[in-house]
Amino acid sequence: DDPEDLIERAPIVTIMGHVDHGKTSLLDYIRTSKVTADEAGGITQHIGAYDVMTKTGHKIAFLDTPGHEAFTAMRARGAKITDVAIIVIAADDSIMPQTKEAINHAQVAGVPMIFAINKIDKPNANPNKIKEELANMNLLIEEWGGKYQSQELSAKTGEGVDDLLEKVLLEAEVLELKANPDKNAVGTVIEASLDKGRGYVTTIMVQSGTLKIGDITLAGKHYGRVKAMFDHKGKKLKTAGPSTPVQLLGLSGAPQAGDIIKVYDTEREAREIANSREQIQREQSLRTKKHITLDEIGR
Ligand code: GTP
Ligand code: NA
Ligand code: MG
Repeated sequence: DDPEDLIERAPIVTIMGHVDHGKTSLLDYIRTSKVTADEAGGITQHIGAYDVMTKTGHKIAFLDTPGHEAFTAMRARGAKITDVAIIVIAADDSIMPQTKEAINHAQVAGVPMIFAINKIDKPNANPNKIKEELANMNLLIEEWGGKYQSQELSAKTGEGVDDLLEKVLLEAEVLELKANPDKNAVGTVIEASLDKGRGYVTTIMVQSGTLKIGDITLAGKHYGRVKAMFDHKGKKLKTAGPSTPVQLLGLSGAPQAGDIIKVYDTEREAREIANSREQIQREQSLRTKKHITLDEIGR
């Protein structure tokens, strides 16, 4: 991209942390909805993608992950969609194994972290203990002279949430996030499923360019024209620019989380690439089968 074509884009934030420390509740509060209440056993089964406008008028896009496995799986597939990681830690608990893993994943990916010390409304909350535990891991927060931003908050009452969002924006400013909106869209698949009424529904994060109704898209082995696009509230969209999460209808199947989605100029081009990917996959699985057969006969 020509640097002149690049304009500022919203940060894409991943919320990670130990089970039940309040990732989804935090996101629920941020976008004023109630996903946790509908979840089976209160455990996030999928990654949601959402975007919100802060009270100060800035856009932030969010990914909610079921623990950190999805983040790792997407990274393993080469997807890099996170600009900032919020590590949620419950103040009435401790730094847990999955907290450590989340921190580790963010560090390996080179993604800046903000620590959200949650559940401070609880009588047994002890945010200082969490800060000490972080310090013991060489993660010194700014308040204590270190470099990491942190925010005490309650996803239940909302206390501290706006301050957290402003800290995200501060982190984003340092990163100088930019993208070119005036070209064919490129994004990453967040999740995909078959909806009985609507066909294949694919949630993607647009990273550069602008996706439009009628665009010919290809993700993994699946292609098709964009029939319709919706935001996370179900509102119809005609276009989706950089850092916009959308649910789209029109792909011929369900691609995998982490697949790159791109727009092509002709359907023929998209079909040919889809077919060649299909063929490569078929050959690979044949080769694997052959190995198994040889192994089975002891060669
Ligand atoms: P998984 O998706 O299963 O990993 O959990 P999660 O991190 O998304 O946690 P979730 O938002 O499901 O919250 C777990 C429990 O903690 C729920 O019962 C929430 O109501 C509760 N909870 C979350 N945040 C707060 C908070 O700030 N204060 C209080 N009192 N409870 C909270
Ligand atoms: Na939960
Ligand atoms: Mg959750």
